[in-house]
Amino acid sequence: MSAIESVLIENRVFPPSEALVKAARISGMAGYEALCAEAEKDFTGFWGRLARENLTWDKPFTRVLDESAKPFYKWFDDGMLNASVNCLDRHMGTPVENKTAIIFEADDGAVTQVTYKQLLARVCQFANALKAHGVQKGDRVLIYMPMTIEGVVAMQACARLGAIHSVVFGGFSAKALQERIIDGGAVAVVTANYQMRGGKELPLKAIVDEALAMGGCESIRNVFVYERSASACPMQAGRDKTFAEVLKGQPTECAPVSVEAEHPLYILYTSGSTGKPKGVQHSTGGYLLQAKLTMDWSFDLQPSDVFWCTADIGWVTGHTYCTYGPLAAGATEIVFEGIPTFPDAGRFWQMIERHKCSVFYTAPTAIRSLIKAAETHDAVHPRHSNLSSLRIIGSVGEPINPEAWMWYYKNVGGERCPIIDTYWQTETGAHMINPLPGATPLVPGSCTLPLPGIFPAIVDETGHEMPNGTGGMLVYKKPWPSMVRTIWGDPERFKKTYFPEEMKGYYLAGDGAVRSADRGYFRVTGRIDDVLNVSGHRLGTMEVESALVAKTDLVAEAAVVARPDELTGEAICAFVVLKRSLPHGAEADKIAKELRDWVAKEIGPIAKPKDIRFGENLPKTRSGKIMRRLLRSLAKGEAITQDTSTLENPAILDQLGQTH
Ligand code: WTA
Repeated sequence: MSAIESVLIENRVFPPSEALVKAARISGMAGYEALCAEAEKDFTGFWGRLARENLTWDKPFTRVLDESAKPFYKWFDDGMLNASVNCLDRHMGTPVENKTAIIFEADDGAVTQVTYKQLLARVCQFANALKAHGVQKGDRVLIYMPMTIEGVVAMQACARLGAIHSVVFGGFSAKALQERIIDGGAVAVVTANYQMRGGKELPLKAIVDEALAMGGCESIRNVFVYERSASACPMQAGRDKTFAEVLKGQPTECAPVSVEAEHPLYILYTSGSTGKPKGVQHSTGGYLLQAKLTMDWSFDLQPSDVFWCTADIGWVTGHTYCTYGPLAAGATEIVFEGIPTFPDAGRFWQMIERHKCSVFYTAPTAIRSLIKAAETHDAVHPRHSNLSSLRIIGSVGEPINPEAWMWYYKNVGGERCPIIDTYWQTETGAHMINPLPGATPLVPGSCTLPLPGIFPAIVDETGHEMPNGTGGMLVYKKPWPSMVRTIWGDPERFKKTYFPEEMKGYYLAGDGAVRSADRGYFRVTGRIDDVLNVSGHRLGTMEVESALVAKTDLVAEAAVVARPDELTGEAICAFVVLKRSLPHGAEADKIAKELRDWVAKEIGPIAKPKDIRFGENLPKTRSGKIMRRLLRSLAKGEAITQDTSTLENPAILDQLGQTH
């Protein structure tokens, strides 16, 4: 597609069909604007009303928002509730009780279903098992599980007891796991012997063992092991127990522990601009409210919908749109264990047909890789599957380029389904800026307008608002119920990162954005800090740099930048100064491979640099500061046109241009 064509497409507008406007719960722009007006007129009244209508409270709240310790905002804080009650018990005695809660499709294609009633029984049973091992309200439980019903059960069981889960994505390394165990002070680990992905059996428990053996994890008393496959794994007597062992004899009822609305529901580690990932702490009441509400608003969830969010529970999207949102909303949801390209790249489309999925929510990186697959191998093109069950399709995790948007719209959505491009973050807990299916006219590549009650703005470095059409930093002017409450164990870092002084009390998202001159639509252009977005996964440049320099026998210095990548959105490019002479040819390739494997071990395979460049030094100013903008140009393969007069060592640029 030519550049001119893609610009033309960006200007195209796709209004919702009349049928959708009529049927949707938020009907037309008038419906959307009415809610926005309500929120503007009476901010706390608006959120209070929604919290009363959408959640089941054990003790009703009397105060909506407490700003006395801002930016440590409190929402509904004298109210009490339980998250698992709001996802499960509240449906008992209603038609949802016997509805399918989860359709699970395993990597090998085997399908299992559970109803809400059965899911509640399983959550209670596992909660009883945790309780029998001393897990209590406020304890941290680390979950390192494959995408399975049991993963969701483990999270819900923690919530039932008021225990705080900390889910770590199954692709993270033992080192990453150990750091998160130590930082959170977890008392137990819930894991599986293996995980099945792409026809392969990959160890999980062995990685937990490795993490625990690294030391510093003395807080862990128990390791619960779900037997995902028949293969044996090493078990340490006293500490490690299988699910079968701990569930045996446990009753299928478990009294929920009522908690304060502000009680932490979970911690989820995410990358920031320093080397150490931050434990983003979410609340129970406010978080759950927006998880539930955005299912209704963004996806216009109807009782007959089959909802499928393809994210893993290891990421925030899996928390909000697999574990909490769909269940709180009483949806039938698909949970998929495998990968989009196994047994072939038509898997998603075949699964939509098989399970009559009606709301499909995935990431641009998956779309882009499936476009490529369909273009090279027609048999996996979505046209070979019956996708007529779809009514809404969504996108999350990174900007979706207009070309991918158009392909998704035509080939998956049949030019019938609105694309809901949802812009949000681990820290926001739920959707913030996105179209509503029955209201907002769509513009490819734009996440359009904020949800009612959300007040974004674009500002310059001093916090002054920019006119439409001018890019700047995205901020939120008012707090919202599902916002991050603090960084676990580091309130100072919370304040500095999200509420820096120059932003005048606004929340700083860390993204650049621009509003269109005509409609005021938002387009998020990407991170403005040192955070990378590779395949929709967040990684810190400093995190990868720290991993590289931790290879002390080899690496003297490293700098990491992102460069645009057609498939993964961004790719990691690492510039490395070795402690030995500059390697060439095969030797350089060998060292590059060694460093990639090292980073995979330190963080996880997703953090492996795509390019590694070696040099005798890095481009630095006379005062010793690394000139990252030059590195970014080198990474893109651009000619250096910037001013290099402050550069101490210009010759270094030639060396660093070589890829390995
Ligand atoms: C980016 C994932 C453009 C953004 C939910 C944000 C997006 C970071 C979009 C958060 C989108 C997420 N359009 N950019 N629709 N969604 N991002 O914490 O840079 O893993 O700050 O949360 O992803 O990533 P996180």
